[in-house]
Formats: sequence, C-alpha cells, structure tokens
Amino acid sequence: MSGGPAAPPLLEAREVIKLFPVRACQRLFARTAMQSAVTEASVTIHPGETVALVGESGSGKSTLGRMLLGLTAPSGGTILYRGRALAKLDEAARRAFRREVQVVFQDTGASLNPRRTVGQSVALPLQHNLDVWGEEARRRADGLLDLVGLSPARFRDRLPHELSGGQRQRVGIARALASDPAVIIADEPVSALDVSVRAQLLGLMHALRQQRQLAYLFITHDLGVVRALADRVMVMQGGRVVEQGTADAVLEDPRHDYTRRLLAATPVPDPGRQAARLAQAVAGRRG
Ligand SMILES: Nc1ncnc2c1ncn2[C@@H]1O[C@H](COP(=O)(O)OP(=O)(O)OP(=O)(O)O)[C@@H](O)[C@H]1O
Ligand SMILES: [Mg+2]
Repeated sequence: MSGGPAAPPLLEAREVIKLFPVRACQRLFARTAMQSAVTEASVTIHPGETVALVGESGSGKSTLGRMLLGLTAPSGGTILYRGRALAKLDEAARRAFRREVQVVFQDTGASLNPRRTVGQSVALPLQHNLDVWGEEARRRADGLLDLVGLSPARFRDRLPHELSGGQRQRVGIARALASDPAVIIADEPVSALDVSVRAQLLGLMHALRQQRQLAYLFITHDLGVVRALADRVMVMQGGRVVEQGTADAVLEDPRHDYTRRLLAATPVPDPGRQAARLAQAVAGRRG
C-alpha cells in the first residue's frame, strides 16, 4: 500500500435532493407546491465496482441516475466526479466527465436517431468524445459492434427499426463503450427483453466489466441481477436510500422491512443456476 491519499470515488452523489413542481389545477393562485422525488440520497461508485440500485416504481432511481449523469441538476446536495463538484467543472474536466460517464437506457431504440445507421450511431461518440474521424472511426465502430456480438458486415448499415429489441440494446452498449467510459449508468437495460436475451446481455455486460475494468450503476427491479452482478446494493423507497450494503449482506440478511418485502415478492433464482447461466452466456460469446 502506498502512503498517499486514497483516490476519490469515480462518481458520487452527496445528500442530493430533487424537487419537482406538483401539478395542482384545483387552486389557480396557490403557490406551486413542490414534491421531492429524491431526498438526501448519497451514493458512491468506485472504479471497477458494480452498484445495484433497486426499489419500487417511483422510488426515485432514474431521477438519481439522471443527476449522476448530469442530465438534470439537483435541487440540493452535490454530484462529484472524481472528487470535484460537477457544477463547478471547467471545460476540460466537463469533457472528461461526458466521455467517462456513459448511459444505457431501457429503450435504446428511443434514443437512437431513426435515420442514422447503426454504424453511424456508434461512430458518433468516437468523433465527438475521442476526436476519431473518417476511416478510423468506421474501423473502430466495426470493432465495437463485433465486441457486443453484432457482425459488422450484417449490422453496420442497418437502421434502428431493422433490429430486434435485444440487438438495439447491444447497439446501446456499443455506443456507450465507444467513449471508452469508466462507468456506465444502466437504467433497467434488460427489463424489456425476454428471459434468454436478458441472460445473454447480462453475460455480455459482465464480461465487458472484466475486460475493461468498468464500473456500473445498475438500476433494476430484478434481484436475480443483483445477486449475479452487484458488489454492493442500495435500496430506495420514497426517494430515500433506506438500505445499503454488500449484495450478499443485503440479500441474505435484509435489515429494512421494505427490502424484506421486495425479496419476498421477487422470485430469486437459485444463485448457483443464475451464475451458471451467466457463465454460459459469457462462454457463448467467445465460441
Ligand atoms: N420530470 C418530472 N416531473 C415531475 N415529476 C417527476 C419527473 N420525473 C420524475 N418525477 C417523479 O419523481 C418520482 C420518482 O420518479 P423516478 O422516475 O425517478 O422513479 P423510478 O424509481 O425510476 O421508477 P421506475 O421503477 O418506475 O422507473 C416519481 O414520483 C415521478 O412521478
Ligand atoms: Mg426508472
């Protein structure tokens, strides 16, 4: 161990709050009431770490994710990128943040330009975030498609509507990887897919994490995913983080009543089988 100070987390939310105006139509002149979607939530993501964020619908998971991505500003508290407040980054640091912190949404289709080919969509972040253009960008985009299991020859010239949901999510992952990120915030990236495609994509994300020392914030309802992928888990309820710990500790011995109910309500597959399925999916990619 060196005696120097520990590196700051890659990404951190420190007691962040997000308020939204409540649409109140009953009293025209009433002061706009505010409702909090996230209340003093704190998260840290260290390099290479997978943090799962779970919680019922409306508990504030996506709102917290969007604040960590810099897509929406917190109403209170601070987002820090490598120890520096996001709101105060200079232009160079902001560029580094935009490159290093990437996102994969549940519905990549909606975030892809329908008139742009798959190859063009994957090349775009290479151009804008890494300043790689022309033939080199095309070559690297092909490499990324290959990496996520899409044959470049078959897929590079397709439009988003010519892909299945699972293929579109692979494009979403390739596009995120194009920036050579340090962390990917994945907001229910496999929720819309059927079970077998889901396992393949989780296997892919797991393998990429190993290959590239990636960190993930994995927003999910699926406690099976938590068991298979997460180092740590955070549970949100009503905008607050109500429980957190290592994935093993939280799943084996949940402290909060809400977490117990969530566990009881979720059929968690036998961890051995889940791990075997993942391993199989990972091996399948190499074969
Ligand atoms: N742009 C917005 N304007 C007003 N209210 C919002 C906005 N975005 C989110 N909310 C509210 O904030 C709360 C948290 O929403 P959020 O989408 O973060 O939940 P979630 O945990 O991601 O839910 P789900 O699991 O359904 O995706 C909800 O009550 C939601 O209605
Ligand atoms: Mg959400």
